[in-house]
Amino acid sequence: MKIAIGSDHAGPALKAEIVQHFIEKGIEYIDLGVMEGEKCDYPDKAKEVCDKVTGGECDMAVLVCGTGIGMSMSANKLKGIRAACCSDYFSAKYTRAHNDANVLCIGARVVGAGLAIELVDVFMNTPFEGGRHQRRVDKITGLEGQ
Ligand code: RB5
Repeated sequence: MKIAIGSDHAGPALKAEIVQHFIEKGIEYIDLGVMEGEKCDYPDKAKEVCDKVTGGECDMAVLVCGTGIGMSMSANKLKGIRAACCSDYFSAKYTRAHNDANVLCIGARVVGAGLAIELVDVFMNTPFEGGRHQRRVDKITGLEGQ
């Protein structure tokens, strides 16, 4: 399991906490910035990070912005990306189990570091259930480009 992670300028502090968690748990990751003091527009960072997933270098991604919403809107424009903005445990779990989400978006101005790490862990560790959910996920894919 390899995770791509990135944020805009609202997120470097929370991103750093999540990266520290990856290091402590021995989880492979690529940190695509931005770092404290740098700025970027969230659609640009969403594209850069999601390309690592659609290109096959990473299995999943975590995107952080102020609300998590701008990142999720941007990421969901990209073919093959199913991004979910989550601020509660249940949603982070079931967007994996039912939607086969491959990108978790978190709002650094919404969620504290403790909860963010719980969200990342449950997102990474919950498998897609398939079955009846596969048909629905295929229908999401069918909406791409419409
Ligand atoms: C940047 O100030 C802020 O607008 C951005 O991080 C995010 O919250 C957008 O959705």
